[in-house]
Amino acid sequence: MKTIYKKDFLRLFDFNAKEIIYLIELASILKKKKKKNIEDKKLVNKNIALIFEKESTRTRCSFEVAAYDQGAFITNLNSKNSQIGYKESIKDTARVLDKIYHGIQYRGYDQSVIEELANYSNVPVWNGLTNDFHPTQLLADLMTIKENMPSGKYFNEIIISYIGDAQNNISNSMLEAAAIFGFDLRLISPKKYYPKKKFFNICKEISEYNGGKITITENIELGIKNTDFIYTDVWLSMGESEKKWCQRILQLKKYQVNLSMLKKSFNPKIKFLHCLPSFHDRKTILGNKIINKYNLNSKGIEVTNNVFESKKSLVFQQSENRLHTIKSLLISTLCKNNDILKNKNYMYN
Ligand code: CP
Ligand code: NVA
Repeated sequence: MKTIYKKDFLRLFDFNAKEIIYLIELASILKKKKKKNIEDKKLVNKNIALIFEKESTRTRCSFEVAAYDQGAFITNLNSKNSQIGYKESIKDTARVLDKIYHGIQYRGYDQSVIEELANYSNVPVWNGLTNDFHPTQLLADLMTIKENMPSGKYFNEIIISYIGDAQNNISNSMLEAAAIFGFDLRLISPKKYYPKKKFFNICKEISEYNGGKITITENIELGIKNTDFIYTDVWLSMGESEKKWCQRILQLKKYQVNLSMLKKSFNPKIKFLHCLPSFHDRKTILGNKIINKYNLNSKGIEVTNNVFESKKSLVFQQSENRLHTIKSLLISTLCKNNDILKNKNYMYN
């Protein structure tokens, strides 16, 4: 029988729709149990390595708290506090860590690095963000979407519009989600920031096979019309040179999510999503610097504060769901016999 147990999670395509739904259902139960303070510890005596080559708040906290809540121990590693990279290759690091730990989380740059880590270790490796993908974010996003589904609808009956930089890790993972679940995904972006053609076409083909539809357009009106969810991300991702801000502002300015854009959906029930962190006000050092430098007459960059803080915004529900979905992923990949979801339709561990 196919199983999530011991599986790597390097990108969303590593799991099928049933497996992802399983993870979300399990996360919902874990969420309820945590709120009632009645969690059973399924990860006692497990050790987890967390490698962060880039900054993180949500992902790191979610992995750490998920592990603690479930009785596991964690070690935080990066290339400054360990030998990784400078004195020891990823291949050797993988073979060292897999003798000590039950699972490894990696956040870093190239997807090829996490692939190498997974190739040379026998324990599950989870992608906590690379330049190409952010699959654990999508688990939380899909859970949040499911919790806020327009009444009576399922994933393959909704429209999601992703606007902004359509070349980044969130956009790529959203494409994989659309392919797997067959929802109507519209990517709205200037041509310069369209995803890689080959990858886009593969996702489109799988999506069509699954009864879905993926379109990409520069036209905001077209991309947003009747949409159920509008999702945006920062215009410059971690690891990209700050020198690119000027060009990004010029090219993406009109793609800012604001109240007049939401009206173009003609859907009063439209919901706003963002993986966070977000430049929605002047309260960050970098955001403030960019807004001043480029003379933006708005308090936000990729989204305005009045959208971010509105009732339409699901962003903090998304970030809370990072914890529950990551916990669900840890339990499912590290426990052979997890009986939390006893329903026999869910035979994935
Ligand atoms: N959304 C997300 O991955 O946030 P962090 O960078 O804070 O982990
Ligand atoms: N695209 C963003 C996502 C942050 C969670 C980045 O990579 O910086």
